[in-house]
Amino acid sequence: MDTLRYETDGAGLLTLTIDRPDKLNALSAGVISDLDDAFREASADDDVRGLLLTGAGEKAFVAGADISQFPDLGAAAARRFAERGQAVFSQIEQMPKPVVAAVNGVALGGGCELALACHLRVASPSAQFGQPEASLGIIPGYGGTQRLPRVVGRGVATEMILTGDPIGAERAREVGLVNRVAADAAEAARELLRSILENGPEAIRLSLEALRASDQPLEAGLRHEAALFGQAFATDDATEGATAFLEGREPAFEGR
Ligand code: COA
Repeated sequence: MDTLRYETDGAGLLTLTIDRPDKLNALSAGVISDLDDAFREASADDDVRGLLLTGAGEKAFVAGADISQFPDLGAAAARRFAERGQAVFSQIEQMPKPVVAAVNGVALGGGCELALACHLRVASPSAQFGQPEASLGIIPGYGGTQRLPRVVGRGVATEMILTGDPIGAERAREVGLVNRVAADAAEAARELLRSILENGPEAIRLSLEALRASDQPLEAGLRHEAALFGQAFATDDATEGATAFLEGREPAFEGR
């Protein structure tokens, strides 16, 4: 992959680093394609249990879609452009393993949308989040108008999208866009992932699926939750979790 570093630590953690620092990691068609391939591969790889996504360099997580693609795009191609990015970002959101964004600088436009497609976000104190598309005469197209209000509420999302003004890491934490702010965002994201991975992999997978169902109306979401709760009890990990608790020892989950 030309624009993405794929690095495993031998203990279940995969770090994906978008690697175009000279263009502030802007999302070219090549980056989108590399993200598609990397998440597909990671999903199928049993040795990968959790993923960290970050950007190369000191300045940017991702400074947005690559604007050099925009001037001659046209309506029909723009729609396909949005659909392609949305499909890749939905694949990230639908990963059965936890995905944490370590936002080490600006996350603007498609960068903010990419962070939103991850399950959790950790930011460095200098990180900035924004949807500046309106200042370019367009609107977000990689899910920003849908995922941002779901994460921060429609009021804050409306302000961010209509003004185009970015917010800093602390404000992002206040509004729930960021889970943690830490000087070393990547290391804090790894710590977060390690603490998640102490739990049963099947429980994590089923939890992520149940959380996605919270986009549905409540009654449908509750039915979905009950079905997944049933599936959890079909695993050996559920027996191990309860038995370990009753025996006063740490559980040894096997992901079955
Ligand atoms: N698309 C394409 N290239 C981008 C880019 C983007 N979204 N963001 C930055 N770059 C490029 C710049 O063109 C520049 O390339 P060059 O050195 O070949 O001229 C390089 O990355 C460095 O960016 P630069 O603007 O010089 O850095 P800066 O520190 O002065 O400013 C930003 C940083 C993030 C404020 C500024 O780059 C910016 O506003 N980027 C666009 C953000 C945006 O609107 N994103 C949403 C797109 S929908």
